[in-house]
Amino acid sequence: MPAPERIPSRGLTEDGVRTLLAEGELTVLGQVRGASNAVLYCTVTHEGEARPCVYKPVAGEQPLWDFPDGTLARREVAAYEISEATGWGLVPPTVLREGPYGEGMCQLWIEAERDEGADVTDGDRPADGLPPLLALVEGDEPGDGWKAVGFAEVGEGKTALLVHADDPRLRRLAVLDAVINNGDRKGGHLLPAPGGRLYGIDHGVTFNADDKLRTLLWGWAGEPLTAEAAEVLDRLSAGLEPGAVLTTRLAELITAAEIDALRGRVENIRRTGRHPQPSGDWPSIPWPPV
Ligand SMILES: Nc1ncnc2c1ncn2[C@@H]1O[C@H](COP(=O)(O)OP(=O)(O)OP(=O)(O)O)[C@@H](O)[C@H]1O
Ligand SMILES: [Mg+2]
Repeated sequence: MPAPERIPSRGLTEDGVRTLLAEGELTVLGQVRGASNAVLYCTVTHEGEARPCVYKPVAGEQPLWDFPDGTLARREVAAYEISEATGWGLVPPTVLREGPYGEGMCQLWIEAERDEGADVTDGDRPADGLPPLLALVEGDEPGDGWKAVGFAEVGEGKTALLVHADDPRLRRLAVLDAVINNGDRKGGHLLPAPGGRLYGIDHGVTFNADDKLRTLLWGWAGEPLTAEAAEVLDRLSAGLEPGAVLTTRLAELITAAEIDALRGRVENIRRTGRHPQPSGDWPSIPWPPV
């Protein structure tokens, strides 16, 4: 699959969207219900352009036992920086800025296409409430075009096989998650967008110095990296040298120890040449998976 088009929002370049997000006037329209942190749906306006966005103020972050308080917004921006360095454009443009409730992250709102991948391997049955690109199947074979994640309890003592699509965009995201040490890649955080792009959102619990990789995207665990991913990791490795532009940017967002751990993960994946396997000392699949 060719690299996605690098224009994330009609009529504006990636730089233009970043400027809009960073410098535009932010107006809160509402709060996204059911989120663990304060997630505010906003519009941002600048030089005659307006876009919907999400603003997550640091003040609205719930404390977590394994992450220092008030650091999630910066981790979201760091995840965007790494996504940009890969050239895969998997994270919507994200900036750190002041807003009506203080400093927070501001990210372009992605209007997801909800109908993608709704059918499952055994016919065209909609995948009961599951997000796009995920399905539950009977038996122990994922079926053509799907990759197995693991068995899931589906009630009445029954289990089913949780599968995700064998999709090159998801495979890139699996590499990105391994690099950023994503502790929470749920199905509901995969947003297929117009033009065939796929975005991942919600990158607050990332870049911990300890191994926290918790994701649904285990379908390629242990398999050799694609040539494309290997090249991307070579470039990333160079980009993370001390003093490099990316490293300097990251130093404003995460700690020196976290940058070292990030380098360690990149080098580890390059050395094995394979998608990582679950570490075994941390629940490897978020539950519920959506
Ligand atoms: N950039 C975005 N584009 C579209 N929708 C978004 C975006 N960011 C967040 N959302 C919506 O807001 C919801 C909550 O955001 P998010 O998951 O990032 O916050 P959270 O506090 O970590 O919540 P959760 O408890 O669900 O993990 C998402 O499930 C999604 O529906
Ligand atoms: Mg979350």
